Amino acid sequence: MIRIMYNGLGGQVGNAIQTALRKNDTFLGLGLSINEADLMEPESMRTLFIKHKPQYFIHAAAYTAVDKAEEDRAVCHQINVKATETIAELCLQYDCRLIYLSSDYVYHSIEGKPISEEDSNTPKGYYAQTKWEGELAIQGILTDYYIFRTSWVYDPFGHNFVNSMLRLGATRDRLNIVDDQKGAPTYAPDIAQAILQVVQQNAFENKDAYGVYNLTNQGVTDWADYARCIFELEGVNCSVKGISTETYAAPAPRPKWSVLDGTKLKETFQIQLPHWEESLKRCLNARKNRSKIPEGV
Ligand SMILES: NC(=O)c1ccc[n+]([C@@H]2O[C@H](COP(=O)([O-])OP(=O)(O)OC[C@H]3O[C@@H](n4cnc5c(N)ncnc54)[C@H](OP(=O)(O)O)[C@@H]3O)[C@@H](O)[C@H]2O)c1
Repeated sequence: MIRIMYNGLGGQVGNAIQTALRKNDTFLGLGLSINEADLMEPESMRTLFIKHKPQYFIHAAAYTAVDKAEEDRAVCHQINVKATETIAELCLQYDCRLIYLSSDYVYHSIEGKPISEEDSNTPKGYYAQTKWEGELAIQGILTDYYIFRTSWVYDPFGHNFVNSMLRLGATRDRLNIVDDQKGAPTYAPDIAQAILQVVQQNAFENKDAYGVYNLTNQGVTDWADYARCIFELEGVNCSVKGISTETYAAPAPRPKWSVLDGTKLKETFQIQLPHWEESLKRCLNARKNRSKIPEGV
């Protein structure tokens, strides 16, 4: 059995990892919530590494409040940078491979073509900066790591765009939604499944190919069209008016082009996530069934 420890248990990706692990008896998973492993005090995880001897650690917890991070810098830095550094050091000391969830926000300068892992990084905004610094910390400490850059993450139950739209659409007949940011909504159970496939290939086929990978659902949309699609699939009678990023005026900057190229992951591990619309339908079904076991790819 492969021993996997992971954090962010109460979050979208962490919850999806828990669900995927339960269905796969080649893994022995130990999920950590903030109560077992608070990233404000990451050194406290040492005892967990000593006791459970994980072979893989999936670092899915993070400070994810993108706008609040602009004000709450010290806490965001501690969680996203310092704690990531400590986890990387623990992985080095206890011979554990690290898997880190990063963000499309670390690019933020390329437009008009799918962004590859080799393209330049110019993170804008404090959250984006800390995700990038988290990546650099790992790369400075470890060689055996996978960094997965994903985007627009959602699941049936978390705080995300899908659930916000369905909540707002139930009481409003018109919404103004940004239509000049392009990207791919990515379903947390698809992320979890892909990560476990990589771990499986690493553990059983001796495939290392460590490094940085884009990991998003296929296809491209913008937030306004995404909202229209959610309403259409759910039969919600709410019209969507497209507005610009500047009009919406969120505190933290957002990339206008977050279309990530998944070729490296496909060619290296033969993994390609489904089209975002297909996964959205699975999410909406799981939401309707109130199932806590959404299916990944
Ligand atoms: N959400 C997105 O759109 C998106 C896009 C690109 C990349 N990512 C990255 O993907 C990863 C997973 O994101 P997600 O959507 O699953 O995030 P999420 O739903 O916001 O979950 C984040 C998790 O981190 C935990 N956490 C926060 N502060 C903590 C602390 N001090 N100690 C321990 N745990 C703490 C939270 O605990 P509680 O459950 O107690 O709140 C939560 O379980 C993150 O690295 C994120 O940066 C996310």
